[in-house]
Amino acid sequence: MAVRIALAGKGGTGKTTTAALLIRYLVETGQGPVLAVDADPNANLNELLGLTVEITLGEIKNELRTSVPESMARGDFMEMRVHEALVEAEGYDLLVMGQPEGPGCYCAAHAFLSQALQRLEKSYRYLVVDNEAGMEHLSRLNMVEIDHLLVVSDASTRGVLTAARIAALVKPLQLQVAHQWLLVNRAPETIPGALDLYVRETCQKEGLQFLGYLPESPEIFELEISQRPLWELPSGHPLLQKAYHLFDHMLEVPKNS
Ligand SMILES: Nc1ncnc2c1ncn2[C@@H]1O[C@H](COP(=O)(O)OP(=O)(O)OP(=O)(O)O)[C@@H](O)[C@H]1O
Ligand SMILES: [Mg+2]
Repeated sequence: MAVRIALAGKGGTGKTTTAALLIRYLVETGQGPVLAVDADPNANLNELLGLTVEITLGEIKNELRTSVPESMARGDFMEMRVHEALVEAEGYDLLVMGQPEGPGCYCAAHAFLSQALQRLEKSYRYLVVDNEAGMEHLSRLNMVEIDHLLVVSDASTRGVLTAARIAALVKPLQLQVAHQWLLVNRAPETIPGALDLYVRETCQKEGLQFLGYLPESPEIFELEISQRPLWELPSGHPLLQKAYHLFDHMLEVPKNS
């Protein structure tokens, strides 16, 4: 089974940016293949990766109601379509969940999808799931065992408190998380002592491991406004160096491997 890493955090804190950085890190350090899953209904991970999405898993679930050829079992149809929905890139693939179904859950489709994903996952070393704040997709898809839950916060005490509250959803959603991390994103160059103290105390109190700070980067802003993928950030950029160092620590990769 792949090592599962899921992103969580309040809206706009940098989950998708962090997911894209993590995917780039895993690919560039030769730790692939990676399966990236965009589980945010307002999917935009593909844009940060510079990929075009043809069909989402939500759309495939709808096809299951109407378009299954008579000669085909629904499970086999789902598996075939999931493979077709994979966006293939160098060192990693991307799947997009899309919008959840409207009223009246089509639970059979969900079960088929969850089975197809679990079979697919076996071909990858890492699974990176970008989420909306609530993480409901993970429990709905039966993806309950998570190796690393990476909760992203902005650099504020209120943001950190919200991140801790989001991490506390793990229990009611019945997720089984081996490591819960807090990442404080868009941090100023000099971290105010009061914020640092608050971050560390909150992590201790709430059972989170503090991963570290990612700096605010004008280059990320530039890429965003010109709608260019994060891959265009030049290698060796301070943000990449910092992020890679944190990811090494999270995944315990020895320094010179
Ligand atoms: N370290 C950073 N430096 C500068 N800008 C950043 C940084 N991290 C994220 N941003 C910017 O902040 C905005 C929100 O980031 P992102 O989309 O990754 O957040 P999100 O948590 O995935 O948001 P959503 O909840 O809408 O999915 C984007 O415009 C992104 O370019
Ligand atoms: Mg996002």
